[in-house]
Formats: sequence, C-alpha cells, structure tokens
Amino acid sequence: MSGSLPIARDVQALRSAITAWRAAGLKVGLVPTMGALHEGHLSLVRTAKERCDWVIASLFVNPRQFAPHEDFERYPRDEAGDAALLAGAGCDLLYAPERSVMYPAGFATNVIVSDVSTPLEGEFRPHFFGGVATVVTKLLLQGLPDTAFFGEKDYQQLLVIKRMARDLDIPVAIQGCPTVREHDGLAMSSRNAYLSAAERNVAARLNHIMHDTIKAVRAGEPIAEAEAEATRHLIAAGFSSVDYVSIRDAETLAPIADLSAPTRILAAAWLGKTRLIDNMAV
Ligand code: PAF
Repeated sequence: MSGSLPIARDVQALRSAITAWRAAGLKVGLVPTMGALHEGHLSLVRTAKERCDWVIASLFVNPRQFAPHEDFERYPRDEAGDAALLAGAGCDLLYAPERSVMYPAGFATNVIVSDVSTPLEGEFRPHFFGGVATVVTKLLLQGLPDTAFFGEKDYQQLLVIKRMARDLDIPVAIQGCPTVREHDGLAMSSRNAYLSAAERNVAARLNHIMHDTIKAVRAGEPIAEAEAEATRHLIAAGFSSVDYVSIRDAETLAPIADLSAPTRILAAAWLGKTRLIDNMAV
C-alpha cells in the first residue's frame, strides 16, 4: 500500500485483482507509465476512470527503450510521490513490477514492429520502439485490461502500439488521448524537468514554430520548404540542434506531397542535453 493506493508487484497480484473485477462485470483500464508523473499522465488516468470502472496505472522505467548513452540512470524516480498523485486522480491500483518480473533471467524476446516504427524516432532512436513494443506487449498480456490509454504526445509510439496490438491480436482497445500542454504551449513531459530556466524559456517556441509551419503549408507553402524554414527558426530561437520537423501522413507517417489526406506535423529538437518532441494535426 502507498497511502490509500494498493500496489501489485508481480503478475500474479495484478491478475488476481483484475480477475476479481472482471468477475464482477467491471471494465478495467490501464495507463502505462514510466513514473515522474505530470498532469499529462493524470489526465490519462481521469479519462480512463470516465470510461472504465477500475483503473490501473503501471510504473516501470523500461531499460530496453533507452540506448546506453541515454538517460536511464538519471530518469526521475519517485514511486511514493507518483502513487499519491495517482490516488488523487482516481487510480485504483498501481502495478510497479521489479525489473526481474518484467525481464527474468534468460529473457530473449523482442517485439519489433516494422513500417510505422522506421522513420522519424526510428531513425534517431533505433532501439526505442523495440523496447516500447516489447514492454507494452508484456503489460497488456499481463493484465489484459479492456482498454489501455496512451498520450498523443508520443504520437509515433501510439501508432506503433496500435499496429502491434492489431497485428498480434491482443484483445485490448488502444485509446489515444490529447497532449496536455503548459500555459505557453509546451507539451508536458517528464523530461521537461531537465530544462534549465533559460532552456525552459526557449522550449515553448517549438510548439509556436510548429503552429506557424502549419499555417504556412495550409496557405500553400511547399512542404519541404516549410519544414526547412521551421528548422531554421528553431535554431534561431535557441535550440541546439533539430533532429527533424516533418509533415507526414497521419496514419502511416509516410512523406506526403500535399495535404489531401489527414496529416500530422512531428518534430524533435534538442535544448542542450534535453531532447523535446511534439506533434500536432495539420
Ligand atoms: O510513454 C511512456 O511512458 C513509455 O514509453 C511506456 C508506454 C510506458 C512504455 O514504457
């Protein structure tokens, strides 16, 4: 227990809670997280609570989705603080497995989703979606909730998880939920905590420049030119480097020539040692 929130530490404890709720005819929602919770996560819990009778949040900082040079070690961890926030948002159970529960000795399986995993984040973080797909497959199969809730902030991740659940016939509905933003438009992210005060002042420009880019392409500017201009504006605003600003088909993430199909703008840019991502419908 943490405050009033019960905690399951292994698959058996998770399943026995879910089996009891299911037997009572209740709908179960799952919100997978890596902790360091903010309002974006809590809005997922609240949405899950509106749509399901019981809500589980998982907390597991998944080593497989970090490359060796990335921030696994310094990723913020505060289970007690997270548990209190979850309880306040209406969560009914925290599932916080140890690493040995998720990856017991001899673990040898990787879930690789090709196609939608390949561009954008897949180019810059080639280890990432294999780690995400593997851990989310496990979380979904461990609990078999009715619905799992993910933020659109990680838009490509959401598409990968939808494809994975469909391809593997995992009987869990995957629900995307809108990005939650700070007052100045910065998408909420656990990694925003890494930003210095000076970097935080620059960070919201990512969102503003993406809005300007949407306006420009809607007004007829060629897509490649608008993407290049956005990159120049980000560097001028103070970003250290830009991995991509890209306007893509919203379902497949394929490059597009015009805006005739549903379209998404996606971007990743660095402020010092912190990498920010964001996306919006065009
Ligand atoms: O979006 C996240 O926080 C993580 O990628 C997820 C989905 C919890 C898997 O570790």
